Amino acid sequence: MNEALRPDPVELTARVTPQLSVVVPTFNEHDNVVALYRKLSIALAGIAWEVIYVDDNSPDGTSEVLRKLAATDPRVRCIRRIGRRGLSGACIEGILASSAPCAAVMDADLQHDETRLPTMLALLENGSADLVVGSRYIEGGSADSFDKQRAGFSMLATSVAKKLLRVDIADPMSGFFMIRRDRFERLAPELSTQGFKILLDVIATAHGKLRVTEIPFTFGSRLHGESKLDSMVALDFLGLVLAKLTRDAVSLRFLLFALVGSVGLVVHFVGLLIALDALRWPFPHSQAFGALLAMTSNFLLNNFLTYRDQRLKGLGLLRGLLVFYLVCSVGLFANVGVAFSVYDQEPIWWLAGAAGALMGVVWNYAVSSLFVWRRR
Ligand code: GDD
Ligand code: MN
Repeated sequence: MNEALRPDPVELTARVTPQLSVVVPTFNEHDNVVALYRKLSIALAGIAWEVIYVDDNSPDGTSEVLRKLAATDPRVRCIRRIGRRGLSGACIEGILASSAPCAAVMDADLQHDETRLPTMLALLENGSADLVVGSRYIEGGSADSFDKQRAGFSMLATSVAKKLLRVDIADPMSGFFMIRRDRFERLAPELSTQGFKILLDVIATAHGKLRVTEIPFTFGSRLHGESKLDSMVALDFLGLVLAKLTRDAVSLRFLLFALVGSVGLVVHFVGLLIALDALRWPFPHSQAFGALLAMTSNFLLNNFLTYRDQRLKGLGLLRGLLVFYLVCSVGLFANVGVAFSVYDQEPIWWLAGAAGALMGVVWNYAVSSLFVWRRR
């Protein structure tokens, strides 16, 4: 080995390989991250640990706070992701960047009980489990800080997941768990980076090959700031269930895109009728008006729903709209072309129409995810 690269033996002994990596996804948590670090330092005394915060470029400056913290303690790291959003993706990257044999995932806002971590670690280290879940729904656990609506949704989602995905633990929606890193690495390529149900995804993807243990904890109240999970999490959840049930053959994004497309068809006809009847425009003008209206509403709906994790704003919105018009115009040619050639072979109007429409939607979906809502 090159002399200059040889590690200093003193430095080598001083550097302890961690037993436990704690992964903390953060978005706008600048008031909470230091408090969590202090709590971890106390709870994990006597354990060699590291903490990896994964921040999605929070506008509140969370990553700056973390960089300062990391400068004072080498056990602290911050991964700052730019142009990406998502709780699951952040957890996956954090675990893959960790170096300990065991990795825990927890919220930054002190809702998860860090004093349970040593017990969870002991269960992994003594080999009695591959995955330990902090559970709200077993004897001794609770989620008192939930409002009624949230509690109801959580219960419903839990029972749907248990039935459809054959996940048989009490709290597959928990955001607090610890897993052996080698097990996780094997599953990682199949996990969904969208959404926030990483634990459910891990268990469903493992198909019963993980030994899972639950330990109770009390889901506390948030220290500062507010929850990032809005009503759209229901969609994320459905998407995950669908993807897992069909082994990733059906993506929720495509279904949403097609659904928005069918709404667009209605918008088109309404626009056409208004232009013809109320405005008394000639047919070609009216048809163009309907199409423009439909493309615009499709674009806005997709931006709001289908691609809400990559939502375009300001100038990007305008640019996206123009590119979307272009994509859809080419899509229309593809649509009509395919419909014609099918009709040529088999003059059944609905078959030809459906084939054309399918071609159009597949084209629009594929190309707009490349050029309109492309990942930056
Ligand atoms: N990097 C990153 N990117 N972090 C995020 C994102 C994101 O897009 N969205 C949320 N987070 C971080 C938050 O900053 C927080 O540290 C943690 O992920 C959980 O988000 P919260 O906003 O606090 O979620 P919650 O408390 O409403 O929901 C928690 O409990 C649920 C159980 O009901 C989470 O742990 C969920 O995963 C869990 O299912
Ligand atoms: Mn939280």
